[in-house]
Amino acid sequence: MTNYPISTRTELPEEFQTLLKDYPREAWEKHPDMAPFTQNWLEAHAMFRRLGKIIVKDTQRFLDKSRSGEDFAKRIGFYGGQLVDNLTRHHHFEDEQFFPTISSVTPDFDRGLEMLESDHEALTKTMEDFVISGNNAIDLAVQDDAKAIDAAGKVLEKAQALQDFLARHLADEEDLVVPILLHHKMR
Ligand SMILES: [Fe+2]
Ligand SMILES: [Fe+2]
Repeated sequence: MTNYPISTRTELPEEFQTLLKDYPREAWEKHPDMAPFTQNWLEAHAMFRRLGKIIVKDTQRFLDKSRSGEDFAKRIGFYGGQLVDNLTRHHHFEDEQFFPTISSVTPDFDRGLEMLESDHEALTKTMEDFVISGNNAIDLAVQDDAKAIDAAGKVLEKAQALQDFLARHLADEEDLVVPILLHHKMR
């Protein structure tokens, strides 16, 4: 169990920031050891942020009546599904392959990696809550817009919680992992 649950953090905990000080975020993009793998990994994170924004916005648009229930159901089904499926695969890859590889190169940050693995568990629960609320709202929205309003309010709450957790997790994960990859020239 981590000492740093995601709901209590506002940044990467100080004890994991040793390399970040030498490899600040602003210097990553132009760093000579920035590898295509790392860029793709960061791009996957950017996609999760975009999908998180889309599902929140689509739900708000239905609630403010600028989107029909049918349209809302279609979009939340598609983009919500994309986010949940891709994120699940991404976490699996990190837990099973990526973090063990980092740990084999340097065990110095194992406690930080454990924190991130605990985040994945918390995010799984947050995703499940979103999926349950989303499926319920979709069922109602395809029948009748008015019937789906309360359910969509729930979706908005769950989608926002997911977006907030994800923002914290991705930022802290990048701040921990990218400096390690650059420092050890991992590709
Ligand atoms: Fe992660
Ligand atoms: Fe990640």
